[in-house]
Amino acid sequence: MKRFIDLDVEGKTVVIRQDLNVPMKNGRITNDKRIRAALPTVRMALEKGAGVILISHLGRPVEGEYDEQFSLKPVAARIGEALGMNVPVARDLVAATVQPGHVVVLENIRFFKGEKKNDPELAAKIAALGDVYVMDAFGTAHRAQGSTEGAVRKAPVACAGPLLVSELDAFAKVLDAPKRPLVALIGGSKVSTKLGVLQNLIARVDKLVVGGGIANTFLAAQGINVGASLYEPDLLDEAKKIMELAKSKGCALPLPVDVVTAKELASGQKASVHNVNEVPADEMILDIGPQTVELYRRELADAATVVWNGPVGAFETEPFGAGTKALAEILAASSAFVVVGGGDSVSAVEGYGLADKMGYISTGGGASLELLEGKVLPAVAALNDRD
Ligand code: 3PG
Repeated sequence: MKRFIDLDVEGKTVVIRQDLNVPMKNGRITNDKRIRAALPTVRMALEKGAGVILISHLGRPVEGEYDEQFSLKPVAARIGEALGMNVPVARDLVAATVQPGHVVVLENIRFFKGEKKNDPELAAKIAALGDVYVMDAFGTAHRAQGSTEGAVRKAPVACAGPLLVSELDAFAKVLDAPKRPLVALIGGSKVSTKLGVLQNLIARVDKLVVGGGIANTFLAAQGINVGASLYEPDLLDEAKKIMELAKSKGCALPLPVDVVTAKELASGQKASVHNVNEVPADEMILDIGPQTVELYRRELADAATVVWNGPVGAFETEPFGAGTKALAEILAASSAFVVVGGGDSVSAVEGYGLADKMGYISTGGGASLELLEGKVLPAVAALNDRD
C-alpha cells in the first residue's frame, strides 16, 4: 500500500478523504476528536508544499439535496481555526480548486448523487480533483462509496494517509501478531450486532471477557434467570456455540458473578447488587457488580494485549456506570497494549479522562467492528490493489 508520508507532492493538489463526521447539536460540534485526528495529515500535506482539498461526509442526509444541518461549514471553520487560515467550503466539484499552501473543504459528499451507490462517474470526478488521492478516512473505510473505494481505484495516484495507517497498525497488533496473552473485552447491548466479532475473536484470543446485554445473553444461555434484563432469546444457541468453542480452544470466557439491577433504566433509580443467580424477576441487569469487577481485574492482570469494544453497563445513566469506569481504570493502569474501538467505549474512556493512558483510541465505530470481524475494509482492499 502506497503511503502519503513517502510521496513528494510539492506544488500539487492533494485530495484527502477524511472522516469528519462529527456529532453536532444545533449547528455546533459536540466532539471534535475526529477533526483533531485528521489535522496532522492536513498539516503534513501543507508542509510538503501541496494545496489541499478535503472530502468528508457528515451524517446521513438525503442524497442529492443540500441540507444546511448537514453542511460541513462548522467543520471547515474549526479546521481553519486550528490551522490559523481561512478554509472555504466549495459547494460543488467545479468550485473545488486550490492553490499550494491553501485548504478547501468540499461540501458534504453525501449531497452528491451517486456517492452512496459508488457511482463510477462520480468516483472518477472526485478522483480527478487532484494529482494525488489520500484515503485517510478510517471511520468510513468499511463503506464502498464514491469517495472511498471508488475514488481510490480511479485516482491518478492513490495512497493511505497517516491516520488510516495508524489505525490499521493498531488493529494489526491485536489481530495479526499480538503479544500474548491477548484479551478481548466485548460489551454493548446485543450479541446479534457483534456475533461476527465474537466468532472471529474467540478463535484468536486467550480470553474473552464480556459485559452489557451481551453478557446477559451468555448468562441466559447457561440457564441463569436474568429477570427483566435485555437479552436475546434467539441468540442463545449461538452463545452456547461460542462458549463451547471457547472451551475446546482453551480460551477463558469468564461471566459476571454479580450484577447491579434496577426496575428501570433511568437516572437516579434505586439500584442493588445481586449474585447472578438471584436477579429479581422484575428487575434488569444494568451493570456488572463489584465482585465481577474484581474477577475481571484478575483476568486482565497478565494481559499483554487488550482490545476493548463496548461498555459493560448502561454507563451513561448513573448509577450504572461504575463497572465500565472501573474497567477503564484497570486498563489505563495496565502495562498491556490496549486498543479501544467503538463509539461508546471511546466516549466512556474520554469521559473519564483516561484516553491518553490507552495504547490506541480508534476513530472508527463500524470500521473497527468490521476489522474485529476479520473483514478487509473495501477502501483498504482498493488501496492494496493499486500499484
Ligand atoms: C461513522 O460514524 O461510523 C462513519 O462516519 C460512517 O458513517 P455512516 O455509518 O453514516 O456510513
